Amino acid sequence: MAIKVIVNIPNEAPYDVRIGAGVLGGLGAHVAALPALASARRALVVTDGNVAPLYAVRTKESLAQAGFRVSDIVVPAGEESKSLEVAGEVWEAMAALALGRDSVVVALGGGVVGDLAGFVASTYMRGVPVVQVPTTLLAMVDSSVGGKTGVNLEAGKNLVGTFKQPAYVCADTATLATLPVREWTCGCAEIAKSAVIDSDDFFFWLADAAEALAARDEETAAEAIARSVVFKADVVAADKTESRGVRECLNYGHTLGHAVEALAGYGTFSHGAAVAEGMRFAARLAAALAGASLEFVAAQDDLLDALGLPALAWSAEPADLLAAMKRDKKARHGQVRFVLPRDVGSWELRDVDDAVILEHLEAWARSKEECS
Ligand code: NAD
Ligand code: GLY
Repeated sequence: MAIKVIVNIPNEAPYDVRIGAGVLGGLGAHVAALPALASARRALVVTDGNVAPLYAVRTKESLAQAGFRVSDIVVPAGEESKSLEVAGEVWEAMAALALGRDSVVVALGGGVVGDLAGFVASTYMRGVPVVQVPTTLLAMVDSSVGGKTGVNLEAGKNLVGTFKQPAYVCADTATLATLPVREWTCGCAEIAKSAVIDSDDFFFWLADAAEALAARDEETAAEAIARSVVFKADVVAADKTESRGVRECLNYGHTLGHAVEALAGYGTFSHGAAVAEGMRFAARLAAALAGASLEFVAAQDDLLDALGLPALAWSAEPADLLAAMKRDKKARHGQVRFVLPRDVGSWELRDVDDAVILEHLEAWARSKEECS
């Protein structure tokens, strides 16, 4: 049975997120029935080279059966496709197909395709609607909802982008069957992040469900996705453009996580493994600075372990990690900002002094030496 979550963001058209095995079959009918897309006649499916052979035919058939004239464009799989160059190729392809404002862009894939296609849709002819069809766990629980789109520059990730809410999100959990384990755990890390920031209800449900989620039980995954989408929708509704100090909570674990990814070399650890390490560090920092209890730190450690996200047996020079954090675009006026959980469901945003960060990074690095 499918689960429907309605995303209601002030000054935006509400949209549905449909979650369940097989919902892709109903994609065309749902899109055709959307009042905002009443005049849409053509659909462009944007997907990547891994996802296309698996799910493009089913997606295109569903749209065609609902009366859309369907085209597709396949970009190379991987973060490199989130570039102005690839965006340019998609814009040109759309123009060559003579796609007009009666078109809808359908993003079929993970967060890379979602961010790229959302960006292209929001800029082509000053904006055509986009429908998100996430096929990774991370995209289902995070990137397909909330409207951030973008591409990377040499100078950094996501430096050019827009806010463009989708008209509909179709999360077919059956597509997750083909997802590599590494990508699964990336989604699990974002679910854990959401649960810690959200509430006791989500956290303790996830603590009980963690082994089933790690084992990829379908029903458990659908519920974890729905809970994460409800959480993210609430956060985005409170702070659509990350200007009110609320949406930043979604960066929990990402401050150290991004630095770990950068210093270890991109791809050495999955994004999820790095974020989980960042959550472990931030919780310990919160115990020192924001009143988090050691019981909370231990409960979060247990949750991450159960989700298949063990502490990393890796460390780097504290000064190098601090420097990497300062290069991150989330740093403000040279100060590194952390999301610090006071407890499950309670958090604060804190600029932390370099000396304090270094002291905690040194303790973190020593703990790695003791384990090795
Ligand atoms: P991804 O899109 O690169 O997908 C990961 C890999 O899985 C790719 O190789 C892809 O081809 C493959 N894949 C996708 N679905 C598959 C399936 N069902 N079966 C088999 N293989 C499949 O990575 P991701 O983790 O989904 O997304 C990461 C991106 O999302 C980053 O660029 C990040 O910046 C962005 N992001 C955006 C937001 C947002 O709010 N917009 C939030 C979080 C992350
Ligand atoms: N994942 C970050 C955001 O949507 O704000």
